[in-house]
Parts: sequence; structure tokens; C-alpha cells
Amino acid sequence: SLSPGQELGCRTTHCNLEVVQRSTLVFLAVKPHILPDVLEEIRPAVELHHIVVSLVAGVTIQTLQRLLPPWTKVLRIMPNLPCVVQAGAMVFSRGIAADDTESALLKNLLSSCGLCEEVPESYIDIHTGLSGSGVAYVYLFAEALAEGAVKMGMPGALAGRIAAQTLLGAAKMLLETGEHPAKLRGDVCTPGGTTIYALHQLEKGALRATVMNAVEAATNRACDMAKD
Ligand SMILES: NC(=O)c1ccc[n+]([C@@H]2O[C@H](COP(=O)([O-])OP(=O)(O)OC[C@H]3O[C@@H](n4cnc5c(N)ncnc54)[C@H](OP(=O)(O)O)[C@@H]3O)[C@@H](O)[C@H]2O)c1
Repeated sequence: SLSPGQELGCRTTHCNLEVVQRSTLVFLAVKPHILPDVLEEIRPAVELHHIVVSLVAGVTIQTLQRLLPPWTKVLRIMPNLPCVVQAGAMVFSRGIAADDTESALLKNLLSSCGLCEEVPESYIDIHTGLSGSGVAYVYLFAEALAEGAVKMGMPGALAGRIAAQTLLGAAKMLLETGEHPAKLRGDVCTPGGTTIYALHQLEKGALRATVMNAVEAATNRACDMAKD
């Protein structure tokens, strides 16, 4: 449907060739199984001035370069869901024909959607395990925090808001102080106080190892999907 784009005042078309002919910077954001057909369709219109940026999960720069003219400036980016509220975490890598100019352009443009870092391509699957899927682990943690408060007698809606604000505040302090999480955690732990009693329960439940296992499982799954 074209109407969401039209409502934002964007020029729209059903023709992919027209998009490429009228643009310099082209984002590929179709589902992975559709991508080969789209690349075949646009390939004849791709020229030296084009910059092609793929968001498509599991499709490597090597594959993109194989399906496009060899001199195409290709970049691959992996966003995460909070980009929609300008608090995303994105990593990107460039293909051989893209240089510092294209990299700086992409970083500059996408920084308005959140943190945006250039990385070796091998980190992209790890980013999926850490951050792309990671938002879901954080939602699960937020839900558990709020449910703990509900169990102790707080109304659910209030507990949910406070849980979300707790995550936001903790994340903001991590980013703004630049401190290691262990240091900030230590600052909250009064000897013999409430926090150390709670942290002991989390360690007994193997939270740390479980979260590490989750990142590993999602990263491995992303690698496997890229091979399919
Ligand atoms: N969602 C995320 O958080 C996320 C994170 C990382 C990477 N990605 C990647 O982003 C891509 C899109 O994911 P999504 O969740 O946004 O999927 P989506 O909501 O299904 O969006 C796919 C888009 O592709 C359009 N489309 C379908 N066939 C097309 C064609 N032949 N030519 C041009 N456009 C076509 C669709 O238009 P219509 O709606 O008009 O059919 C739709 O706008 C995927 O490759 C995914 O791996 C997504």
C-alpha cells in the first residue's frame, strides 16, 4: 500500500525501477525471500552514483555485490525496533566499492534514529543476538519486574510504568556516565541492604548465564539463517 508514504508527503510509486532512476540513495527493506527478484529488477538501472543500503536480515554484502553490478556502492545495516522512537541501536558495514563518504553519509542520516556504528560485517549477526532480538529480552525483564511488584500488591498499570522508567533511567545512566554496569550496580548495593538480597536471588536463578546463552542462541540462529 502506498498510502502510509503519501500521508507523510513522500513521493510514491509501485515501480522499483522508477525509485532507482529518481534516487541516489536506495534502501532495500523487503523481506529476504523477495530480495533476489527485486535486485534482478533494479540491476539495469543501478549506476555509479547510486548508493544501495540493505536492511535485509541474513543477506551478506557478498551476496548483494554478486546480485548487483560489481562497482555498486553497497552498505548493509542492521537496525532494531526502537528506531521508530529515535532510540534505535544500529550497526552497518560497507562493501568494497563504498568509501568513507558513503559511510559518513549513512551514519549521519541514520543517527537521527539512534546510535549508529560502523563495524566489521561479522558483528552484524552478533548485533542481532544482542540488540535486534535483545529488545525482546528486555521486554521480558520489564514484564517480570512489574509482575513482582503486582505480586507484592502494586496495581499492574502503575508497576508497568515504573518498570519501564526504571529501564530507561538505568540505560540513560549507563550511556551518560560511561561507567561499567558492575560499578553502577555496586553503587546501589548498601551492605546488608535490599539490593544485594535481590541480586543474590538473580544469581541463584542464573540470570547472567541465561542472558549470555540467549545472546549466543540468537546469534547462532542469525548465522544459520544467513546460510539457508
Ligand atoms: N522489523 C525489524 O525490526 C527489522 C530489523 C532488522 C531488519 N529487518 C529487515 O527489514 C526488512 C523488512 O522487514 P519488515 O518487518 O519491515 O517487513 P514488512 O513490514 O513486511 O515490510 C516489507 C516491505 O516491502 C514491501 N514490498 C513487498 N514486495 C515488494 C517488492 N516486490 N518491491 C518493493 N517493495 C516490496 C512491502 O510493501 P507492501 O506493504 O506495500 O506490500 C513492505 O513495505 C526485512 O528484510 C527484515 O529482515 C527488519
